[in-house]
Amino acid sequence: LISSGAFFLPLGSTRSVLAAPFSPRIARFVEPLPIPPVLPPDYSDKTTDYYAIALKKARISLVPGTTTEIWGYNGRLPGPTIRQRGGDEQEGGRQSVVRFINQLGEDQSGGEINAVVHLHGMASLPQYDGFATDFIKPGQFKDYIYPNDRAATIWYHDHAIDHTARNVYQGLAGMYIVEDELERQLPLPKGPYDVPLILRDAFFEVNPLNGEDLQLVFDDRQMRSTYGDVSLVNGIPWPKMQVERRKYRFRLLNASASRSFQLALSQQENRLTVGETMVVIGSDGGLLATPVELKTPYQTLRIDMAERYEIIIDFCRYEEGDCLFLKNIGFSGSIDIDDRIHTLMCFEVVGGEVPDDSQIPETLRPVERLPEKTADRTRTFRFERSFNRWLINGKQWDENRVDANPGVGDIEIWEFFNPGSGWFHPVHVHLIDMQVLDRNGLPPRPYEMGWKDVFHVGEFQVVRVIGEFGPRRKGYKRRFIQGKFMMHCHNLVHEDHSMMTVFEVGQNGPSPKSAPAQDIAQ
Ligand code: C2O
Ligand code: CU
Repeated sequence: LISSGAFFLPLGSTRSVLAAPFSPRIARFVEPLPIPPVLPPDYSDKTTDYYAIALKKARISLVPGTTTEIWGYNGRLPGPTIRQRGGDEQEGGRQSVVRFINQLGEDQSGGEINAVVHLHGMASLPQYDGFATDFIKPGQFKDYIYPNDRAATIWYHDHAIDHTARNVYQGLAGMYIVEDELERQLPLPKGPYDVPLILRDAFFEVNPLNGEDLQLVFDDRQMRSTYGDVSLVNGIPWPKMQVERRKYRFRLLNASASRSFQLALSQQENRLTVGETMVVIGSDGGLLATPVELKTPYQTLRIDMAERYEIIIDFCRYEEGDCLFLKNIGFSGSIDIDDRIHTLMCFEVVGGEVPDDSQIPETLRPVERLPEKTADRTRTFRFERSFNRWLINGKQWDENRVDANPGVGDIEIWEFFNPGSGWFHPVHVHLIDMQVLDRNGLPPRPYEMGWKDVFHVGEFQVVRVIGEFGPRRKGYKRRFIQGKFMMHCHNLVHEDHSMMTVFEVGQNGPSPKSAPAQDIAQ
């Protein structure tokens, strides 16, 4: 299935020059798409479900006939999915307590692999939500309490200072889905027709001493970015999914360290066929107000690192045996290896007519737009590269410096400016959902009109977003937490070096490291 690569390099090594220019050839559209298993709680009480997840190294088969060492939640890549019922207690909303146990041990150079877990898209109670220096050291665990206070497709991933890119690349990422009563009532595709698609890239090398050993190679290209020439969907290179002739809901997450995707469907692999349609129904912070239809060849879906979009594809217009490819027509600035990653997976239509009582409602969930004039103030953040570092407003990460201090309940406009340097930055704000006001004075893309927590800031762009640092997000009963949180570029290599800063909501909140990790009892 695979041909030999060149040098063998240890897992987790950082190199400046790739030994082999390409990963070995891997068969495409053969392996079935796996669905990450939903994690059952260890136990439950009236209000809360309790889970435990071990972070550990595991040798798993990503390519048939080979095994690869990964670092995964419960030893999986991607990690198990947590699915929770959100909303108020009255409407059946539940809280989760997740115990993350670090059993990762040491990396190749003998350094302890410190873990930090961030649930991207939800605040955690008490206030620590994966602050980059709030370590769970090997042999320790920490319990995180998640309120599930609104419905959305979110994810959990590693956030350890300086090593987030490597740790997430090695596999430390998983999906977390919250659904509330409103969403259950909508006639959207459900059950087996509601499918997560976790997209990422990777670079592999064959161990010359053992051809069955396929190594994940992490190379951050001198702190610039890390790219792979193999695309993984739910952990498998170029999978195939058999679909019935009906509608499916796909929850897309881009879990790549540095690669953005520009997605389109096509009936042919090497060009875009006309009229293939996906309907976007949700983004980072949950359902959009109204669905947004995207049709090839002119309308595509741009999904940056850490962004989530939910789409509906209706396969009823295809015939049995047809294949529909999920294409990536974007470049990432690494054109040498982009070539092979222009198709992510294929859908193969099987079976004849099937009943489909699902629908795409014309209105999904009300999204109340925050008017610009309600803002208490505007802050500007400049994202740029300088002397091989990635900076915000000319400064490097300092966990003790607070760069923005909104009061509780304040509404603020944050202006993200990228003066250009060959890079775009997907900017992520912890704790709250925000809305895009405009990009260089122009309206955002229609599918960016909902609640979001990651914002594409392209070269020479000013992107203005607005959000409320308040006790409740409009239209949602949202628990609110004061204290220190991070804002950063979600190109994880940029984040590590060190395009990340701290904002504090209110004054004198608790420390972001308020509860120390505990030792695993021997
Ligand atoms: Cu998805 Cu601060 O991270
Ligand atoms: Cu960046």
